[in-house]
Amino acid sequence: MSALSSTVVAPPIWPGFRRVPLASLRADTVTGFDIYIAVDGSAPPVLYRGHDVPISQENLAALADRGRIEILVPSSQEAAYQQYVENNLDLILADKSTPIEERSQVLYESATNLMRSVFDSPRAPEMVSRSKSMVANAASLLRNEKVAFEHLLSLVSFDYYTYTHSVNVFLFSYMLAQFAGYDDPALMQDLGEGALLHDIGKSQIDASIVQCEGKLSDAQWLEMKKHPEYGHEILRQHSAFGGIALNIVLHHHEKLDGSGYPHGLKGYEIHPIVRISTIADIFDAMTTRRPYREAQETFPALQTMRNEMSDALDPSLFRMFVEMMGNPRRDRAYV
Ligand SMILES: [Fe+2]
Ligand SMILES: [Fe+2]
Repeated sequence: MSALSSTVVAPPIWPGFRRVPLASLRADTVTGFDIYIAVDGSAPPVLYRGHDVPISQENLAALADRGRIEILVPSSQEAAYQQYVENNLDLILADKSTPIEERSQVLYESATNLMRSVFDSPRAPEMVSRSKSMVANAASLLRNEKVAFEHLLSLVSFDYYTYTHSVNVFLFSYMLAQFAGYDDPALMQDLGEGALLHDIGKSQIDASIVQCEGKLSDAQWLEMKKHPEYGHEILRQHSAFGGIALNIVLHHHEKLDGSGYPHGLKGYEIHPIVRISTIADIFDAMTTRRPYREAQETFPALQTMRNEMSDALDPSLFRMFVEMMGNPRRDRAYV
């Protein structure tokens, strides 16, 4: 089934409904949410399939043939929609008849949505399997589709939210590790989980500090700096995460020159994979908008990192990161 045809029709925005990509529906599934379509621009949307009625290949083909690329879901059923997408993500992402930009969009949104619930309930047992399968699904898309990274880059939110930041740091870390030549699937999975969950400890810090729009007081800053240890404790309690993931969560703010926290580690004391996550974390923080400063563009941000953090960051990994951001379709560094 191709989600695109010669006449592309996106439904108008209706209050109380959300437009979602047709590509997120799988044949022969019961979705758990109602599917509406807009018949014409002026009439209210009509119910196409109820939440408990299976959707067939013929239904999907008929929708696509009419040029629809999006359908409507009642906003009140958003949670059911997100759950459905997460449960079917492997099939949605593997369907090569769906354009890669649409699959990339479904992945970015689904990962962001997952992080929202992980931050809400970081100790819920199901966060383990959900995070692990999100990383596995994202990894297989990034490995199998060379252009996925470029499409995902175009979706990276310029506004800073803890949820999108987590997804962005996953994306940059995973791609930099691959670019640097790491390819062991188990190690890459471990790294992916650590990068996605690197700031999970912020869930334990008062929202007035995490969302503070001004300068933090000394006491608030001290508390904020505990998030790596809080996160490490959460991951350890789940007893399902590997050593690399634990290391990233605990040490992603350590710097080669010893100026980082929580342990002031130096040079070789910081695992190379952790150094990757540090570069990804700083880059994403600089290129997203904060209440107290504008976002920097990619290359000015890289220049600032080079000029001001050269003692803090791993120089060869940083060089590879610059090369990768200039050539997002390449999958290996020249060096
Ligand atoms: Fe952090
Ligand atoms: Fe971070």
